[in-house]
Amino acid sequence: MVQTAAIIEGTGPSLHDQSVDGARFRQALAAHASGVVVITAQVDGAPVGLTVTSFTSVSLTPPLVSFYVDRASTTWPSLKLADYFAVNVLADEQTELAEIFARRGIDRFANCPGWRIGAYGVPLLAGISARLTCHRHSVADIGDHILVVGHVVETGTTGGKPLLYHRASFGSFVPHPRESE
Ligand SMILES: Cc1cc2nc3c(=O)[nH]c(=O)nc-3n(C[C@H](O)[C@H](O)[C@H](O)COP(=O)(O)O)c2cc1C
Repeated sequence: MVQTAAIIEGTGPSLHDQSVDGARFRQALAAHASGVVVITAQVDGAPVGLTVTSFTSVSLTPPLVSFYVDRASTTWPSLKLADYFAVNVLADEQTELAEIFARRGIDRFANCPGWRIGAYGVPLLAGISARLTCHRHSVADIGDHILVVGHVVETGTTGGKPLLYHRASFGSFVPHPRESE
């Protein structure tokens, strides 16, 4: 019980000494499949966005979602200025968009035809399977990442299949055979 509390708080040099080896940590994380989203916002009239797999739902009432952004992100200094952001849930054929929004040194939106400004001024990508428009709720420093929590103010879905990410590869969802029995 005492140890659980210490892990949650992340305090104490002894816990640091117990940290798992970095390569083993990444290997274990890669076993976890996730959806792929692009977080977008508009800052001083310019669109910004980055690809993220750390997106998750947080709370139903109130409706909260979250993602983590690397402290080293060059997008974060702009993104953190935005009151509203959009979670663009990528559809399974949108691997190229996932790559574009993870690439530095390019104009990401110039490489992404069909995007538009939606409600609350957030950029929305074309062909996505869902969008969640969020008002920034809270931000916290966690390790080498920043936790961003958003209060969802608007959504839209198309019912398309989602893009998935697993072991550094993109894929698409296939229902378990049991589902068709
Ligand atoms: C599939 C995938 C998932 C990613 N997930 C995250 C994430 O959850 N958080 C994050 O900070 N970066 C994530 N990245 C990396 C960022 O997209 C990328 O490093 C970043 O956009 C680099 O540019 P920046 O300096 O604009 O942040 C991911 C990249 C890919 C390809």
